[in-house]
Amino acid sequence: MFLKGKNKNAPRIMPRHIAIIMDGNGRWAKKRALPRSAGHSAGSKNFKDIARYSNKIGLEYLTVYAFSTENWKRPADEVENIMNILRDYLKDAKNFKDENIKVKFIGNIAVLPDDIKDLIADAEENSKDATGLHLNIALNYGGRDELVFAFKDLANSIIKGEMSVDDITEETVSNALYTKGQPDPDFIIRPSGEYRLSNYLIWQSAYAEFWFSDILWPDFKPKHLEQAIDDYCKRNRRFGGV
Ligand code: IPE
Ligand code: IPE
Ligand code: MG
Repeated sequence: MFLKGKNKNAPRIMPRHIAIIMDGNGRWAKKRALPRSAGHSAGSKNFKDIARYSNKIGLEYLTVYAFSTENWKRPADEVENIMNILRDYLKDAKNFKDENIKVKFIGNIAVLPDDIKDLIADAEENSKDATGLHLNIALNYGGRDELVFAFKDLANSIIKGEMSVDDITEETVSNALYTKGQPDPDFIIRPSGEYRLSNYLIWQSAYAEFWFSDILWPDFKPKHLEQAIDDYCKRNRRFGGV
């Protein structure tokens, strides 16, 4: 007879890479009759807490969605407010070193204002030797945009004779993405009650597990992350097998 189901004594298999869609800042503020900017400030503070906590529990990779390629549709003052919160966060970048978190920005950074690009370069440089959590911050990030960049990159390599069409494989596509060299996200968490990816990590999430919750991002605390990870650990990932 074959034993079905998971062995209860099997070790907990933790996700190596968690990706979070930090959504619900606006509704969090609205509930408190505050401006949306207050929600973004609270969301930013929460992001720092969750990043620190993830590092503390030994997570290898955390990717957070901070600003999408579609978020430019928002009113100019809201976009400016989000960029200013980002500036403040980046000016704090020296703390990254003490925290041993290695930060990397993924997304189309080239089109951002020069001062932000400089702050990003400093933050990445200052934290490059960190041995703890790899923290990816998705900024002006869109999964489709990322794939378009990757296809152009591969096409250019072919035109230059550096590779052939047959060299286009899942591996070479993965290596043309911002997340090159990193494991795919095992687990994608979206608070705020929405059940969609919103153009997040669309290639990388092919076999990710999902966790949705009504909690608004500024209210998403380490205990919720723990709860999500516990749920993840109970799942049976088959990757198409049996
Ligand atoms: C997420 O919160 C932050 C960004 C998208 C930059 P929202 O601002 O989308 O909050 P809701 O969805 O309006 O509540
Ligand atoms: C996704 O949230 C992007 C970020 C959290 C940065 P949105 O609020 O932009 O997503 P939609 O518009 O509800 O799909
Ligand atoms: Mg939203």
